[in-house]
This record gives sequence, structure tokens and C-alpha cells, in this order.
Amino acid sequence: MFEQSILDKLSNRQTPFYYYDVGVLRSTCETLKSEASASGYKVHYAVKANANPRLLEIISSYGFGADCVSFNEIDCAMRAGFSPSEIVFAGVGKTDRDIEAALKSDIFCFNCESIPEIEVINSIASGTGKTASIALRINPNVSAHTHKYITTGIHENKFGINIWDLEEVMNRLKSLDNVRFRGIHFHIGSQITRMSVFRSLCSKINELQDWFASIDAELEIINLGGGLGIDYEDPEKPARFQNYFRLVNEYIRLRPGQRIHIEPGRSIVGQCGSLISRVLFVKKGSKTVFVIIDAGMTDLIRPALYNAHHMIENLTSTGDEHWYDVVGPVCESADTFATHIRLPETKRGDIIAIRSAGAYGESMASRYNMRDLPGSVFSDEI
Ligand code: LLP
Repeated sequence: MFEQSILDKLSNRQTPFYYYDVGVLRSTCETLKSEASASGYKVHYAVKANANPRLLEIISSYGFGADCVSFNEIDCAMRAGFSPSEIVFAGVGKTDRDIEAALKSDIFCFNCESIPEIEVINSIASGTGKTASIALRINPNVSAHTHKYITTGIHENKFGINIWDLEEVMNRLKSLDNVRFRGIHFHIGSQITRMSVFRSLCSKINELQDWFASIDAELEIINLGGGLGIDYEDPEKPARFQNYFRLVNEYIRLRPGQRIHIEPGRSIVGQCGSLISRVLFVKKGSKTVFVIIDAGMTDLIRPALYNAHHMIENLTSTGDEHWYDVVGPVCESADTFATHIRLPETKRGDIIAIRSAGAYGESMASRYNMRDLPGSVFSDEI
């Protein structure tokens, strides 16, 4: 990925910054587009994974819709070329202001998580003379076998409507004139690498379909959410879209007039981004040698928050390998990117790449310690 000519151009820039390989993003989008259209799925890119305007423009050019969780995301998506009629609005705590703005923009669908939320949408819609299309986000109680913080589809989670409450929800819908029930939505977690998890989700959906049929409720949208993981050990490896589609096609039982929608985030943008940083100091600790870089948890919080593993490369050294801990400059011991890893002999000024950082990197950056936000550099603009 980092040929010498690219490296020469990158190493003159002020670090830290995200480097996005546009070729990788495009080829990921092409694969996804062809797999999705072969299976007839509708793709909504989960904007929260990375809302960089340039990336959004590229992603929207493939004809995907967008999955947003705030009106700011909806606005950003529309500016980047996503059509409002292809935008879904999710989230367990949508504000009245955001709901109203989304209604005025005529978005495609609200993914709803509770009766009070649906009632508020109905009342705002009636005030603005609109009818809101809604899908019910259901909590299927299927474990995603991923990190606790990014597990969203089991009973203890705040997300979705519990199955035992569906009857009450469906009854309540009958008296709400400004919402139109279109289907069901799920999102059980992120960075899911065990394919059997999606099989369990499909079986649960099949059972639910029987229940909806028994009450004569038509489902047009079956939205599986996102969640497909990437291989953080191998940044060159694209997400396994083909396996995912094959599995879902094998296990899900669709009825006439139904369409599967999906909301991939990480699997689209994860492998195209690297966080590029410079070594400030190499410091001997009591048990280890610290490589202190100028990127910190403010630029990429995933290792600090989820103990996430990202491959780290020293792009400028070819020396003998040694053991190091790679840490950032922020005043928190959690500001650690990796402990006890092998790197070629590392010294002040070396350029470090933290790989597979395209998803939930830039979008989760903060200004803690009043640090600058990381910049972004695109492979086709250098
Ligand atoms: N749809 C919904 C309703 C979601 O909540 C999410 C992600 C997605 C789709 C996209 O999921 P993906 O395909 O990216 O797994 N910050 C965490 C990930 C949080 C995911 C939140 N929801 C991380 O860095 O791992």
C-alpha cells in the first residue's frame, strides 16, 4: 500500500492525519455493489463509520443510500449526493428537532425503537402535514459475539423493541394516522466475524415473519443493519461480502414483495484508511520501550475504548526488530495503541502507520487536551 513514491509525499506532511486509499475504497464499493445487486439488496452506508465528505461523495456515486443517526449526518449525506429518498434515520434517542428536519427533507424511512418515539414522530408529522414511513427496530436477543460495547441486539441492551412488546406496538400503530408501517429493522452489533451469528439472526427473522403474517401485517422492508467485520490482522483483505450474501440468501425466507436492506459501515470504509503519525520520542520504561507518537486516542479511540487491535507499521525503518509499546501523547494511560509488539528499530522522526483505521477513526476523533483534529489525505490527490 505504501510504495516509496507515496511515502515520500506523505512524510513531508504535518502529522497526524488519515490517509485514505481511494482505489481500495472504490474496489470495495464495486464488489459490494455487484454482490448486492445480484441478490437484489438495497445498501445504506452507515455514515457514522466515516462522514468525511470526500469519502461520502465516492460512496454515494455507487448508488448506495445512507443510514444516518442525526440530522447533521442526514444533511452531510445529502450534500455529498445521497438522495433523501434513500436515507434512513436510526437511533434510540432522536430529538424533536432532528425528526422535524428529517420529515421536511422527505427521507425514506425512520427506524423506530419505542412506542413513545413513534408517537412523537406521528405528532410532528401531523403538524408538518407529512406521513412518516417507519420500520420497527426489533431487539431479537441474538448475541453478536463481539465486544460488549458494540453488542446491540441482546435483552440487556437499550436498543430495539422487545419481541414481547410487538403486539402492543402494532395495536398502537392502528390509531396513528401520520406514520406508515413499512417493515422491520435489526442491528445486533458491529465487527461480527462469526458468520453463524447472521444465520441465527436470519432464523429469528423467519420466526418473526410468521408472527407478522399471522396478524396480517405486511412487511416490505427487511433491514438487517450492519455489522459485518473486517480482518484487523490483514489490512489488505477486503470484507467477506460474498460469504455474507451467500449465507443470508441461504437462510432467510423472503415473502413476495419484500426486499432486504443492509447498512454496512465498517466493511465499506475500514480497510481504506490508515492513521499516519510521526515518532516523537523513544523512551525506556521500567519493563518496556515506549514509542511515543504524535497521534493519540483523540485521533483513534478504538484501542483505548474497546481494546481494539490495529496493525502498526514503521514505514521508514528496516532495522532489526525489537519489542515496543506504541503510545500517544494524551494524558491518559489508556492512550496506548499497542503493547508488546515487534517493530523494526524505531527512532524519533520515523513514520508510523496504524492500519485498518478507516472506520470509526476520524468520525470518533475528539479535541481532548485541546488537540487539533486529524487531517485527511487522499491517495488520488497527492
Ligand atoms: N446500522 C446501525 C443501526 C448501527 O448502529 C450501526 C453501527 C451500523 C448500521 C453500522 O455497523 P457496521 O457495519 O459498521 O458494523 N465505534 C465502534 C462501532 C460502533 C457501531 C455502532 N453502530 C467501533 O469502533 O468498533
